[in-house]
Amino acid sequence: MKKSIRVKKSNSWKIKQHRDQYFKKSKILGYRSRASFKLIELNEKFKFIKKNSYLLDLGSCPGGWSQVVSKVITSGKILSIDIKPMKPIKNVSFFKSDIFDDTTKANIQKFFDGKLDVIISDMAADTTGNKSLDSMRTNQLCLEILEFSSKILKSNGVFVSKLFMGEDFIEVKKLAKSLFKDVNFFKPKSSRDESKETYLHCKILKTL
Ligand SMILES: C[S@@+](CC[C@H](N)C(=O)[O-])C[C@H]1O[C@@H](n2cnc3c(N)ncnc32)[C@H](O)[C@@H]1O
Repeated sequence: MKKSIRVKKSNSWKIKQHRDQYFKKSKILGYRSRASFKLIELNEKFKFIKKNSYLLDLGSCPGGWSQVVSKVITSGKILSIDIKPMKPIKNVSFFKSDIFDDTTKANIQKFFDGKLDVIISDMAADTTGNKSLDSMRTNQLCLEILEFSSKILKSNGVFVSKLFMGEDFIEVKKLAKSLFKDVNFFKPKSSRDESKETYLHCKILKTL
């Protein structure tokens, strides 16, 4: 067998193993998606979900992240939003809508009434098959949500978002640093090594 074919085969074996490991774990623990483990790792690292948090989960479907927060937040408020439908989760309110619609934004403000502590976004643009285009489109979502978050979060609020290490990564970093005092990047173990996916964690808004 040629070396390049062998390398490809061993890489796809590793990807499959990684996927299977978290897939099995999510089935055992009753999570709707493997993504739950990414949020668990992010929260272990940055400790931003508190039992009384007011939290907004963007791009929540099928609900893996919402399930994780619903276990921790017992006396706060959780709102999840996705353009796709999501089956109900205890303690979680859900709006099926596009985050970029003005009515959605107004409804979010009404729901939290100025008390929003945490915004988590695992939003990803629909895939086109072109990896670099897909990563640019997802990073564009992240940029837009960063701007919006800086307007609706409490001054000591936290923003967490998926993004990809692509050419426009630096643009996201620049905007995040212009809006927040503390900006970090973290790739959870449950996110595949081969994927350019990483997560942005920002806290404490800069006052103008
Ligand atoms: C990777 S999935 C999220 C997985 C989720 N965090 C979980 O744990 O189950 C990305 C989601 O982003 C949603 N999405 C993409 N663009 C959106 C938009 N403009 N408004 C709301 N949701 C959006 C997609 O519909 C998709 O369900």
